[in-house]
Amino acid sequence: MTKSRYTVTAALPYANGPLHLGHVAGVYLPADIFVRFLRMNQHDVAFICGSDEHGAAITLRAKKEGITPQEIVDKYHTIIGDSFQKFGISFDIFHRTSTELHHKTAQDFFLKLNENGKFVEEVTDQYFDEDYQQFLADRYITGECPKCNHAGAYGDQCEKCGSDLSPTELINPISTLSGKTPILKSTSHWFLPMNRHEDWLRPWIKEGVLDGKQQHDPKAWRNQVIGQSLSWIDGGLHSRAMTRDLDWGVKVPIEGADGKVLYVWLDAPIGYISATKQWAADAGKKWEDYWTGDTKLVHFIGKDNIVFHAIIFPILLKEHGGLILPDNVPAYEFLNLEGDKFSTSRNWAVWLHEYLERYPDKVDELKYTLTSIAPENKDSEFTWKEFQARVNNELAAILGNFVNRVLVLTQKYYEGKVPALGALTEEDERVLTEMAAYPAKISKLVYAYKIREAQSEVMNLARLGNKYLAENEPWKLIKTDAARVETIMHIALQITANLSMLLEPFLPATAEKLRTYLGLELVKWDEAGRTDILKAGKITQKPEILFPQIEEVLVEAEVEHLKASQKENNAASADVKEIAPQKENATFDDFTKMDIRLGKIIAAEKVKKADKLLQLTVDTGIDVRTIVSGIAAHYAPEEVIGKTVSVLINLEPRKIRGVESQGMILMAENEKGELSFVVPEKEFGAGSEIR
Ligand code: MF3
Ligand code: ZN
Repeated sequence: MTKSRYTVTAALPYANGPLHLGHVAGVYLPADIFVRFLRMNQHDVAFICGSDEHGAAITLRAKKEGITPQEIVDKYHTIIGDSFQKFGISFDIFHRTSTELHHKTAQDFFLKLNENGKFVEEVTDQYFDEDYQQFLADRYITGECPKCNHAGAYGDQCEKCGSDLSPTELINPISTLSGKTPILKSTSHWFLPMNRHEDWLRPWIKEGVLDGKQQHDPKAWRNQVIGQSLSWIDGGLHSRAMTRDLDWGVKVPIEGADGKVLYVWLDAPIGYISATKQWAADAGKKWEDYWTGDTKLVHFIGKDNIVFHAIIFPILLKEHGGLILPDNVPAYEFLNLEGDKFSTSRNWAVWLHEYLERYPDKVDELKYTLTSIAPENKDSEFTWKEFQARVNNELAAILGNFVNRVLVLTQKYYEGKVPALGALTEEDERVLTEMAAYPAKISKLVYAYKIREAQSEVMNLARLGNKYLAENEPWKLIKTDAARVETIMHIALQITANLSMLLEPFLPATAEKLRTYLGLELVKWDEAGRTDILKAGKITQKPEILFPQIEEVLVEAEVEHLKASQKENNAASADVKEIAPQKENATFDDFTKMDIRLGKIIAAEKVKKADKLLQLTVDTGIDVRTIVSGIAAHYAPEEVIGKTVSVLINLEPRKIRGVESQGMILMAENEKGELSFVVPEKEFGAGSEIR
């Protein structure tokens, strides 16, 4: 029987910031486990991802960082792609929506729908920011949610109650650009009349039936996905604009549509198709094979993406024609962190790239923990304590301990050679039968997207091994019944061999280590479970400790780090501070390393697009140099010119918003967060040393 073909997608991350553990636990890691499992089962799989480089998420971030949208997406595409690679997420391609291929694919898609009358062109009144001369949609506009009265709802969605909104529904709308109340102005757009589609969407989502044919098994869909989608449909689907008045994005490929781009939620999912095209071209495959016929399309996403993947994109795919609709949309709930929501703006996050920098050797430890607490059916929480407990009490105490014992005893008793199997006791038979049942048991769970449970079953196999050893105590028996010990060790080694296969999707690095110790190649999933993976006489190697203990100091340091970075973040934005306690002692040497002088500010200007920064030209007595200083909220440029201030002149130069700053102006800060220059009491000239 040929195995079905799969196209598995993982939500394209916005290239507007790095990934944190919440993203990983609730999209990329489960998708990767699923795909590794499919590959071991000989399915033909395309595992597709890329960065989502359009939309307000990008342009607003660019504005905040004071660089161009292109610079933002280049920066984060690299950081994100690099973390995925180091973390071992095995995408077949990590593409980008800023590529030409994507723009062309999205435009062709749009044109095809437009030519076939699938959109409605309409002139409507939209909010407009007069200061910025820009129409306001999506994240460019906030206001009160008409459904739940949450004050910070956006023009496309209320994050509090999850309702989808249009800007004109917001109560007291405010432009996020100018902070002012916008005016209404008419503009024309292409709308997708979603109401036309309610009738087929309902049975398709509820029963998996489309055009009278069974398309997928609705029982395999998560309740949350079906529930949310149906409640949307029952609430009545509205027309949604598929274009925007913006200059960043995929241009609307129609004459006279200057200044208009495709709505990011139209272009981004098409990114799955363009990425497949690029991958197929590189790999010598036909992309169409992965988007037509019996191929199963599976979208791994976070719950905030449900409507786009279960309703809007399926409508677009169906209207396009000739393409498959998703077989499943496994959506994940949210992961919290140490008692609070992950928050980029509050810097309450464990960033994947930082974790990988600090613990490059603990990839599987993180994978294991995140899968153990994956928010499959409800929100869950990551804490460093939990990480420690999962590693020490499960990975080390159960899996590591078992494998280590088996391999060490094999060294000790047989110089590493696998002993022969002798006569089996009833218990041996039972253990071997139980072992043989694991691949099918785990398989069933993975196909049902119960990945968390699947991983815990693999651990149960290690538990079985531990129990078997503990009950048979070969280390005691070796003195009285060496022949029996050979059989016990043979069985324990077969369990280890099985683990080295079944762990592969979940903890690939560990699985590979085990296979190296055992001298095995990876086998097909169904061949795991066999009781003769290791032949008697085969040489095995001495193991290393698989999972070193996670010490208390690591937990404390991480929690401290988290709190400190949040504080730093608060300090940067808050206006009320406390008098800081004394820092650790510095040596006299530490102090004399710093070259502090009086300097005279001879010119000053605001740094473009950065509210807090002034760019100063300072005469240090030695030279004239540029220093960027975060004082713009406290001093106007004209106020500071001519002042003689204290300057740290041998601070390593660093780029701030693209300007190289060659030193630092010393400032006093009071408990209210007000700033003051540190000035000499006598009229001393530039260059005077401060010590
Ligand atoms: N960038 C979106 C997010 O992070 C996800 C896009 S998924 C795609 O929420 F389907 F649009 F590609
Ligand atoms: Zn709301």
